[in-house]
Amino acid sequence: MTTAVIGATGKVGTEVVRGLLEQGEPVAALVRDPGKARSAFGEPDGLTVRATRVQDPAELAGALDGISRVFVAMGSIGYEAVIQRIVVNVSAGIPSIEQVTRLSVLNTSADSRGINQRGHYSVDAFAASTGVRYSTVRPAVFSASMLAGAPEIRASRTWSGLADHGRVALIDHRDVAEAAVRVLTDRSLWDAHHALTGPEPLSWPEALALLSAELGEPVGFRLVTEQALLEQLIAAGVSVGQAEMLIAREWAILAGENDYTVDTFQQITGHAPRPVTAFLHDYRERFA
Ligand SMILES: NC(=O)c1ccc[n+]([C@@H]2O[C@H](COP(=O)([O-])OP(=O)(O)OC[C@H]3O[C@@H](n4cnc5c(N)ncnc54)[C@H](OP(=O)(O)O)[C@@H]3O)[C@@H](O)[C@H]2O)c1
Repeated sequence: MTTAVIGATGKVGTEVVRGLLEQGEPVAALVRDPGKARSAFGEPDGLTVRATRVQDPAELAGALDGISRVFVAMGSIGYEAVIQRIVVNVSAGIPSIEQVTRLSVLNTSADSRGINQRGHYSVDAFAASTGVRYSTVRPAVFSASMLAGAPEIRASRTWSGLADHGRVALIDHRDVAEAAVRVLTDRSLWDAHHALTGPEPLSWPEALALLSAELGEPVGFRLVTEQALLEQLIAAGVSVGQAEMLIAREWAILAGENDYTVDTFQQITGHAPRPVTAFLHDYRERFA
């Protein structure tokens, strides 16, 4: 029962590979950069790293031959969204594949204010058209999203944004990976969508108060205009598409789309999700 992981060198994919291997599950990491994969994982038993152009349907079909389960963790917009559809479509034609599980996002819908939510909705709609056996995990915003603000926080002890109110139950990406491993390895969780949140809705200013307590000095929220945020993100090297997605995420937060929790993580894993304080403590040096 080998699981192919696509996006294996990303934040969640890396943890999913490790989680599967810890459970003795064989993994085929289909990657564009085998060197990056080897430096993340070394050469553990049970792991095959295979350089694969996943955008090439014939090459991907060859890499998926004999695979039982597929996990996909990459973006929902732009070219990554094209690749996601190719992966789903090719998987639908491989007889050995029993389940494709995709990393999606909370509030996946056609009419969310979030671009990411609409992007994942359209990949789900495409998957339904292929008849592939299919599940998703749909996490809230990652606590790790705060790392995008780390350079600004280090430099000026501020975080610039649009959402000075509106809450999100931030979830740790390591918890997302743990839940994904459970879904991949427990057939009773297949063919379903699993919304995941952290333990407690927080606004950005409230999350920054927790970071201030961790650092022992104040970090403040700086309310800026959309244009100023766009320019700041682009100057920091964020792509235009990613900046657009981050700005739309602020609209969704302000509209209250994320202000709730679900207990799916507890149900799936048998324990509570990590609090944001645990993430901030573990990643303290990145903000200090
Ligand atoms: N950030 C959040 O707060 C949040 C919250 C909920 C859901 N999500 C969802 O999480 C997903 C992103 O997960 P993540 O943060 O784990 O991703 P990530 O760290 O950005 O990793 C993306 C992975 O996709 C691979 N990739 C990207 N473009 C590729 C291409 N053209 N060809 C082959 N491989 C390619 C990357 O490979 P390389 O390592 O070679 O670059 C990497 O392995 C998105 O679908 C997003 O909607 C994010």
